[in-house]
Amino acid sequence: MDPSFVPGDVRVRAPATSANLGPGFDALGLALALHDDVEARVTEGGVMVEVTGEGAGELPTDASHLVVRAMLAAFDELGARPPGLAVSCVNRIPQARGLGSSSAAIVAGIQLARGLAVDGQKRMDDAAALRLAAAIEGHPDNVAPCLLGGFTIAWTEESGAIAVSRRPAKAVQPTVFVPTDRGLTAEARAVLPATVPHADAARSAGRAALLVHAITEEPELLLPATDDRLHQQYRAPGMPATFALVTALRAAGVAAVVSGAGPSVLALSPIPEDFAPGIGWVEQRLGVDVTGARVEGVHWDTPSGPTVAAGPMS
Ligand code: HSE
Repeated sequence: MDPSFVPGDVRVRAPATSANLGPGFDALGLALALHDDVEARVTEGGVMVEVTGEGAGELPTDASHLVVRAMLAAFDELGARPPGLAVSCVNRIPQARGLGSSSAAIVAGIQLARGLAVDGQKRMDDAAALRLAAAIEGHPDNVAPCLLGGFTIAWTEESGAIAVSRRPAKAVQPTVFVPTDRGLTAEARAVLPATVPHADAARSAGRAALLVHAITEEPELLLPATDDRLHQQYRAPGMPATFALVTALRAAGVAAVVSGAGPSVLALSPIPEDFAPGIGWVEQRLGVDVTGARVEGVHWDTPSGPTVAAGPMS
């Protein structure tokens, strides 16, 4: 075994995530207790990928698999590529539904590379891992909660993505409604206008600020706090069933939003017992993942305080 790598398998549990949470477009996110389990080890040569569960038979099983691409990008930053890799994915996060499956693959890959490289977690800290994950994904609001857990606020500087993580209040009860239909984030982004009315921007900024308070301290305010004017109405024509469900839930007093770029729906407050989402939706009540994607069996330094990936980047 090359002394640059640890022998044997490393394993990571990468959580599903919901981005935007209404008005926090490209900034806010929440990690959910629904996980992809990914294992990897260094081999003598070649790349082998095994996929079971979501995406099995559809996802590539060679070096073009997103977990492997992220691993290789991380190994390049760490300065050592292994001769070969064997990767095994047990996927539970529905693909292309707005629940962060691609972010989970990217973050899992980076964490596995950090776990397989000797001293990888020291040579690439969480801040660097977040920058790399956001650079691969293109926006930070899914990769931040996937890496850090909890409720995250992410932003981007010249040097890359930064995020802070907070623990949501116990009364926050995420439920996802997942449709059969898939959606492509690139298409959902393409329908967004280049500019929005100032009044809409001001309204959304206020609600996003309120959301930080509501989700951590006062969940009773989640309904007004999740009101968005930046993206959901522009996406509605492309996902009418999603928009109809969000509207019906909100009319019933539930803090519901489009999950990420859709088409799933996320509710942050309890669903009334007599509420029926209609046919075609799989309803799943999920806890919040508060740890993020950690590598099992590898010692990770415990971050101090809620800000675990912040500060000026070198
Ligand atoms: N903020 C992103 C969007 C999340 O809404 O396009 C997509 O994963």
